[in-house]
Amino acid sequence: MSKNLIVYFSRSGENYVNGQVVSLEKGNTEVVAEMIHSCIESTLFQVETIHEYPQDYHQCTQEAKKELENNERPKILDYVHQFKDYDHIFLCYPNWWSTMPMAMFTFLESHQTEHKHIYPLCTHEGSRMGHSVEDIQKLCPQAIIHQPLAIRGSQVKHAKGQIEKWLKDQNFEIQI
Ligand SMILES: Cc1cc2nc3c(=O)[nH]c(=O)nc-3n(C[C@H](O)[C@H](O)[C@H](O)COP(=O)(O)O)c2cc1C
Repeated sequence: MSKNLIVYFSRSGENYVNGQVVSLEKGNTEVVAEMIHSCIESTLFQVETIHEYPQDYHQCTQEAKKELENNERPKILDYVHQFKDYDHIFLCYPNWWSTMPMAMFTFLESHQTEHKHIYPLCTHEGSRMGHSVEDIQKLCPQAIIHQPLAIRGSQVKHAKGQIEKWLKDQNFEIQI
């Protein structure tokens, strides 16, 4: 039987929602990653950086911008040691400056993605997937990249139906 892995990056703390800065107890992407996990048999893995990002929204955006401009690869706390056992990889991340957080670049470059089926899911505040799918394609040239899903951060709590439909459309069996 094929095995499913959900890899996600998410940040709690201050974020920009519907034009306002609000403090999130749980990051938006973590909410949707857990929804996928509740729908299909899968392993959940959080990408965490050794260096924590600021809670303050504006400080965080500035730090993230510098990382992107310098094409950095922030060090991550852990890796998926049995990555080769998984066939389907869900990549869940927030849109940061129109792409994935650089920690996801670190993650993808640290694992063998050849022939893996990748399903990108991005939470955002208006820029949808940005150019993240093109970036995944460059980082994983031999992976099979499937239909991506963009969900607005402020809508994640109501996204279960959308996620179920997305999974069904890609032939995943939803568990009840
Ligand atoms: C550093 C940073 C950069 C962001 N850049 C964008 C952006 O370019 N476009 C966009 O639509 N949203 C942007 N956002 C908003 C996030 O994508 C959105 O709030 C997302 O749902 C946050 O997910 P999280 O709570 O799981 O971290 C940015 C947020 C942060 C913190």
